[in-house]
Amino acid sequence: MTRERIVSLRNPWFTRSVGITAAIAIVAAVVGFVWLPLQHPGERFKSVWDAICSAAGLVRNAAPGTQIVRADYPTTRVEIDPQMLSGASAESIGRGATLALRCTMCHGARGLSQADTPNLAGQYPVAIYKELLDFKTGARVSAIMAPLVADLSDADMRDLAAYYAYLPRVTSSGAAAGEAPPIVTSGAPLRSIAPCGACHGEVDSKASAAWLEGQPAVYLRTQLEAFASGARRNDIGEQMRNVARGMTAAEIDAASEFYARAQ
Ligand code: HEC
Ligand code: HEC
Repeated sequence: MTRERIVSLRNPWFTRSVGITAAIAIVAAVVGFVWLPLQHPGERFKSVWDAICSAAGLVRNAAPGTQIVRADYPTTRVEIDPQMLSGASAESIGRGATLALRCTMCHGARGLSQADTPNLAGQYPVAIYKELLDFKTGARVSAIMAPLVADLSDADMRDLAAYYAYLPRVTSSGAAAGEAPPIVTSGAPLRSIAPCGACHGEVDSKASAAWLEGQPAVYLRTQLEAFASGARRNDIGEQMRNVARGMTAAEIDAASEFYARAQ
């Protein structure tokens, strides 16, 4: 019995199958990188190389007359890094506590508000810091908060974030919350809405997504409606606006009521 080597140029089955696979790959590359981009009605490429770069996602010399659209309102300039502000020093927390004396009137003595102002106790430090910076640059508009942050330095905002993050949250077993509505537990896949917890996580959060449990229902509803209408537009990459725009009024109500009860 002859034992033919499978991987050998002398094996016609091997050379043919490799040849066919290579031919398919070449045809697919030519179609994907050259033919399809050149067929695209809106594009005018100067050369085949430009078309290839465009298909690979590299923007080269934009065609003359192409306008780069920039927002005509202030957008957030904060860059988020998950490790940012972690491991605050005791001095920083202490300085934050002193600065926070001007905030107690609305946000409560221990960061827990009695009115419908957001609670800050136990909030992720990155979320607090980002919001303060956004109030300062006008990326998040609030007639109440803007004058209060106007004279805060970057270090002040970091200290305030460290202090509030250090304060304990109100926590209960969560049993009082009742069952979470479907928009919270599973989102709405057909409308590209991920479950809220995918970004507003229990243990950690994505980017600047805040801790929502225990926030006043009125506050949550107002923010969701503001994201949906575009009145609030400081979320990086429109992450939250895309979620809120797809929610129905009933879902906004249900999610706000649920998070306000959950602690
Ligand atoms: C006069 C009342 C008032 C005072 C004083 C005040 N705040 Fe606020 N704060 C508000 C209100 C109202 C909002 C909600 C704004 C909105 O609706 O967008 C807010 C929002 C915030 C937020 C955003 C919270 C979130 O979850 O997005 C942060 C952070 C914050 N305040 C920090 C502070 C700090 C720090 C101080 C003290 C330097 C302070 N505030 C003083 C009323 C106040
Ligand atoms: C793709 C990630 C993502 C998902 C999914 C998501 N959010 Fe958000 N959300 C964010 C981010 C990021 C922010 C912070 C925006 C900013 O930078 O101010 C935010 C902010 C918010 C705020 C304002 C919080 C505050 O105190 O300022 C509310 C309320 C909120 N989200 C509710 C929800 C609800 C309810 C759901 C589920 C239906 C949801 N989010 C799903 C990313 C997400």
